[in-house]
Parts: sequence; C-alpha cells; structure tokens
Amino acid sequence: MIINKPYKIGNIEVKNRLIRSATFEAMATDEGYVTPQHLNLYKNLAEGGIGLIITGFAYVHPNGQSAHRQLAIYDDKFIKGIKQIADVVHGVGNGCKVVLQIAHCGRQTGAIEETIAPSAVFETYTEKMPREMTHNEIEEIIEAFGLAIRRGKDAGFDGVQIHGAHGWLISSFLSPYTNKRSDEFGGSTENRTRILVDIYNRAVELAGRDFPILLKMNGTDFLPSGLQIEEAKIIAKRLADIGFASFEVSGGMWEIITLPPKDFDWRPTFIPESRLNVGIEHDPAYNLPFAKEISQAVDVPVILIGGINSNLLAEEIINEGSIDFISLCRPLIREPDLPNKWFASEQKIGVRCIYCNECLGTLSEGKGVYCVQDEKV
Ligand SMILES: Cc1cc2nc3c(=O)[nH]c(=O)nc-3n(C[C@H](O)[C@H](O)[C@H](O)COP(=O)(O)O)c2cc1C
Repeated sequence: MIINKPYKIGNIEVKNRLIRSATFEAMATDEGYVTPQHLNLYKNLAEGGIGLIITGFAYVHPNGQSAHRQLAIYDDKFIKGIKQIADVVHGVGNGCKVVLQIAHCGRQTGAIEETIAPSAVFETYTEKMPREMTHNEIEEIIEAFGLAIRRGKDAGFDGVQIHGAHGWLISSFLSPYTNKRSDEFGGSTENRTRILVDIYNRAVELAGRDFPILLKMNGTDFLPSGLQIEEAKIIAKRLADIGFASFEVSGGMWEIITLPPKDFDWRPTFIPESRLNVGIEHDPAYNLPFAKEISQAVDVPVILIGGINSNLLAEEIINEGSIDFISLCRPLIREPDLPNKWFASEQKIGVRCIYCNECLGTLSEGKGVYCVQDEKV
C-alpha cells in the first residue's frame, strides 16, 4: 500500500504517509511542564505505527496560553521536560519521527483575561473584545516564535509546526476578517503574511536553515469575509518559496460555531454545531478540495487533515497524487495503534472513532484527553 511507503518532509525521513495531527493533550502541569502522562501517550502512539507525530500545541508566550494543562515552550526552562517527549518517541526505535507544534492563542482563549489580536474584532464564541497589538508586541511575538523553534531543535525534535490555522493568533493575522491593520502587518495579502515571514527568518537565524518548519493553515476560514482558498494559495506559495517544509491544510475559526446556518448555504453538509475544525462522519476528508488547491501552489509536501476514516480512503487520496500525507487526530485518541491495523490488510479497515467530538469536552476535566465512547464500553 502506498500509505505504508516512506516520503520526506524537508530532511525528515517519514517511514509512511500517516501523521498524528496535533492534539491538545491537557496533560501538562499547571505551569506547562511535561508529565509522565504525556510520555505514556507518545510512547503508545509511536508503537502504534504512525510515521510522524505532531505534539499538541505548546504556547510560545505567557499571554498566548489557550487552555489549562497546556504545554508551555516560552522559556528555556521547558526544554529539559519537552525533550523527554522527543526522546520517548525516538526511543521506541521503530523510526517514528516527532514534530513540536507551537502556537499563540490570540483572541480565542478562556485561559487569558485580556486577549490580544491584530485588530480589535469581537470574538463571538468567547464573547470577548481583544486588544489590538502594538507594533512592539508583534515584534515580541515574532521573537517568541523564533525562540520556541530554537527550543524545539534544542529539545531534539525532528522539526516544528507553527499552528497557523483555526483562528489562533497566526491565523487571525492571515485572515482579512480578523486583521484590519493599516501598518505593514495588515491590509494586503503580503502584509498579512509578513508575521510568518519574519518568524521564519528569525528561526533560521536561531535554529539554522536545515531545521524543518511546517505550517498548519486554513484553506478557508469558513467565514464569508474570512480567508478564502484563492488567497490561501498565494500565502502558501510565498511561504514555500522562503523555505517552509510542508503545509497541513485545515479550516475554520471558533466563531463559525456561532454563525446562523444560513451562512453555510454554500456547504450544505456542514453542521455548525459540530466543532469548527473537526469534521463529521458523513463528510469524510472534508478538507480535500482545499488541500488539493494548496498542493497546486507549492512544491513541498501537503498534509491532509480532517475526517479521513479508512485505510482505503487514505490510500485512494495518496494514490491520486496531489496529497503526500494523511493526518489523523480523533481516530488516534480512540485507537493509537490504528496505523498498524490499517497496514495489516488491503481490505477496508475503518476507524472506531464515531466523530462525536466528546473528546473535546474531556479537555477541561483535568484528566487528560480521552475517548468518551471507550468509557461507555
Ligand atoms: C481533542 C482535540 C484536540 C485538538 N488539539 C489540536 C491542537 O493542539 N493543535 C491543532 O492544530 N489541532 C488540534 N485539533 C484539531 C485536529 O488536529 C484536527 O485538525 C481535527 O480534529 C480534524 O482531524 P480528525 O478528523 O482526524 O479528527 C484538536 C482536535 C481535537 C478533537
């Protein structure tokens, strides 16, 4: 099967085409340090046959925390702990690779009182008005991302992924819906992309050009005045040209949950009640059209995320040629050994995940992410 064939992301040799998409673990200490629960989770995933693991998002600045029990990476003091994740994955010894995901929450968080964003655009899900960032604050965040990338390298990760999707800070810079700035970080597509260009250039100074930097980005914000695929392609091309190693294509922002269904007429199968970036069972591979478009614009590997629910679907998508990797989140919460199961047969093997999204609710329980259906069995 092609999904069990190796391929490269930058200089990372990935042993197969299956990636564990970033999944917030809710397992860190209150201060953001790694715990034994993380190490157990990542060991299980590596043993389950996945080619590359992307960790849950780690916050790059104290004012960028998205949730409690989230990993932190805003200081060198976190390197020692986070290195244990890289070590445990590599220690499994089956060639599994691991990438650290880094993020800033921007205007979408319950963990921070005063939220910041490129512009003061009311966030309808948290019902908070963010404060517009000053120029100096943007420079500070660029530096924070650069340092976090260097820390990821120091900790032994194979690469770092910047979370630029789902309405978090970077996504809110890219989107014309949330970025209304009139300085060099807003306005034109080029200006809205500038924060990522500056982060990349700073990271190269701190971590070298060979250290792979990946981006998770929206193919669309799923918002009428948000980022659309035509512009997402221009952004991806610009970033591929400067050296980004790969693009994982997702979509949505928190506030789409609050929009009335009429705004979704153009995508009739989409259920607004279901969580923005997380798909639905009867709409498999729902980001595929957008990921295909991005793949036309760039000559680096493209990763498809969202609702990929069988080995044969994954096989068909990779065989078609425009998508290089399939990534999975919810199915692996229930079955960390899903890749081994998928590779074991050429017959169709689905997922035990029923896409109920209740794993999202477990994130605030303080026990770490888990599958609610497993509890019911
Ligand atoms: C419990 C949970 C935690 C998530 N945490 C993250 C995260 O930390 N970073 C991220 O980029 N996406 C996160 N996501 C989104 C997933 O990576 C993925 O984009 C989405 O679940 C769709 O993929 P799937 O259909 O394979 O689940 C999370 C999703 C869930 C359900």
